[in-house]
Amino acid sequence: MANRIPVVAANWKMNKTISEGNLFVEILNNKILYKPEVDVILCVSYPLLFQMNSILGSGNIQLGAQNMHWELSGPFTGEVSPLMLKSCGVQWVILGHSERRHLFQETDEAILKKVLSALKSEIKPIFCVGEKIDERKSGRTEEVLERQLSGLLETINEVELNRFIFAYEPVWAIGTGENATPSQVEITHRFIREQISRRFPKCSEKLRIIYGGSVNLDNAKELIEVEGVDGFLVGGASLEVESFEKIINIVKENE
Ligand code: PGA
Repeated sequence: MANRIPVVAANWKMNKTISEGNLFVEILNNKILYKPEVDVILCVSYPLLFQMNSILGSGNIQLGAQNMHWELSGPFTGEVSPLMLKSCGVQWVILGHSERRHLFQETDEAILKKVLSALKSEIKPIFCVGEKIDERKSGRTEEVLERQLSGLLETINEVELNRFIFAYEPVWAIGTGENATPSQVEITHRFIREQISRRFPKCSEKLRIIYGGSVNLDNAKELIEVEGVDGFLVGGASLEVESFEKIINIVKENE
């Protein structure tokens, strides 16, 4: 790994109440106190952000949101703005997640607006890309990833790019128990890094590209050993503090 600090990010999705979140953080905070070699990020639902921020304090665990609106305020019933996230201590926001793209019809244009707004509000994007199963089967994976990345790469500058984490999340592997194979992951991460490097030749080696899609205790070791994988975005296996902590350890031991 080219001196890139690995990342393990939890995506709790629409899970956990405040008391469940409290319990998780209380246990995890004690366990990972001495592991700054790995960036650990908890991406929690909106109602938990304020409380999680107050118990995470200035420890080693960073706080992320799972979505946001691009406007700073206004008549957008049910939406949450980057200013609100910022006021809850949020450092990261997942944007372009496949559940947002496919269940809530978020377009590349809408995702780009969110990214630009997050950057303006000094919230760092965890930018997700990934193909659907029919796209992979018909050999269109690269075309889809190129489309998902191109608008972004044409719009941001080098300073902004350095604030990103990219996540490769094949849609067919998310929440299905079926992870991409090490060779699929290696080829696809290389492709994503090449896309970035075409526009930003100096930066792409510094950027972290993490894998997401049914990461668990059984596959984390073989996946973190894959060239070009800088960590994980973990959904299901991040809900239990024991398995999440073990995944962090597996990533740490790979260093
Ligand atoms: P999963 O979710 O680990 O449950 O597949 C990953 C994600 O959606 O980020």
